[in-house]
Amino acid sequence: MRVGVLTGGGDCPGLNAVIRAVVRKGEVAHADEFVGLADGWRGAIEGRTLPLDVERCRGILPRGGTILGTSRTNPYKVEGGVERVLETVAVNALDALIAIGGEDTLGVAHRLGGDGLSVVGVPKTIDNDLSATEVTFGFHTAVQIATDAIDRLHTTAESHDRVIVCEVMGRNAGWIATYAGIAGGAAEILVPEDPFDIDTVCESLKRRHQKGRFASIVVVAEGAKPEEGTLAVASSSVDQFGHERLGGIGNLLAEEIERRTGFESRVTILGHVQRGGTPTAFDRVLATRFGVAAIDAVHAGEFDTMVALRSNTIVRVPLADALAELKTVDEQLVRDVAEVFFE
Ligand code: F6P
Repeated sequence: MRVGVLTGGGDCPGLNAVIRAVVRKGEVAHADEFVGLADGWRGAIEGRTLPLDVERCRGILPRGGTILGTSRTNPYKVEGGVERVLETVAVNALDALIAIGGEDTLGVAHRLGGDGLSVVGVPKTIDNDLSATEVTFGFHTAVQIATDAIDRLHTTAESHDRVIVCEVMGRNAGWIATYAGIAGGAAEILVPEDPFDIDTVCESLKRRHQKGRFASIVVVAEGAKPEEGTLAVASSSVDQFGHERLGGIGNLLAEEIERRTGFESRVTILGHVQRGGTPTAFDRVLATRFGVAAIDAVHAGEFDTMVALRSNTIVRVPLADALAELKTVDEQLVRDVAEVFFE
C-alpha cells in the first residue's frame, strides 16, 4: 500500500518514534511505501511532501519535534482546503493516511473520513486531554520536565523564603499541573476544571507559612481561571480551531499573592520547554506501540479509527469517540491525593 503520514498541531516528544514505528512495520511486514506530508494539514493542502522510508527514520527515536514538520492549519477554514487535500492524496496515489495529532488534527481526520479519505489516527498531546485513550504520548515527558523544574524551584524558593508560582501548559485540562504538582510537592495546584478563589489560595499559604514553612510552590495550569468576578484576566487571541492562546495567569497570580500576603513572590512560566527535547522511555515505548498498531489498523482496513491505550493494551476506537469530549482531570485524584499536601 502507499500510505501518507502527517503530524499536526503542537509538536510533542514521541512524534518521531511513532513515525519510525509506522514506517518500520509497514516496510518490513507489509512492503508498504510511505509519503510524508509536510507541516500537517498545511502541506496536505499545498501538496508538499517529503520522502519517508526506513533510511530516513534512522536515529530519530530519541529526537524531539517531528521530522515532518507541523502546523495548526485547518483545511475546513481554508478556501478550497478540503478539495486540495483530496487532490494531494490522489496525486500521490495514497491508499490511506495516518494522522498523528490531538483533538484538532484528529477532528479534521474524522471529517475527511466522511469526505472519502481512509484515515487512521494516533493520539498525540502533552495535554493528555483526549478521551478514549488512558494516556497520550508526550504527557509523561512534559510531566517529567515540569517536575524537574519544580524540584529546582524548591531550593531557590527555600533559600529566599519566597512563593514561586510555576505555570505549566495543558490548555483546558489540568493533567500536567496535577501530576507535576503531586510529583513536585506543590503547596497549591490550580487547574482549569476548578476555578480558584484567590482569597482561599492566599489564606492557605498564610496558614502554611505560620506553621514555620516560608517557601511554597504554587503550580498553576495555563488554563486555570479565577472564580467569576474575583480577578480580571486579560483576553487572548484564537487560532484556526478557535482555541485561545493561553499563558500568563502565573504573572497575575504571583502579583496578587505578594500583594495580599506580603510574601515575596516570583513566577516561572515553563512554556514550550515542556514540549521540546527527547521523550522519556515511557513515551518512546507508547509512541512505538501506537505506530505499530496504526499501520496494522490500516492493513486491517479499520479506517476512521484511532489507536488507544486501555488497561495497558492497544485497542482501536472510533475516531468519533476520541473527539466526543475533553478528558478532564480526575477530581478524585485532586481531592484525595493532591489536596492532602496543600497545608
Ligand atoms: O496542545 C499543546 C499545547 O502545548 C498546549 O498545552 C498549549 O496551550 C499550546 O499547545 C501552545 O501552542 P503554541 O505552540 O501554538 O503556542
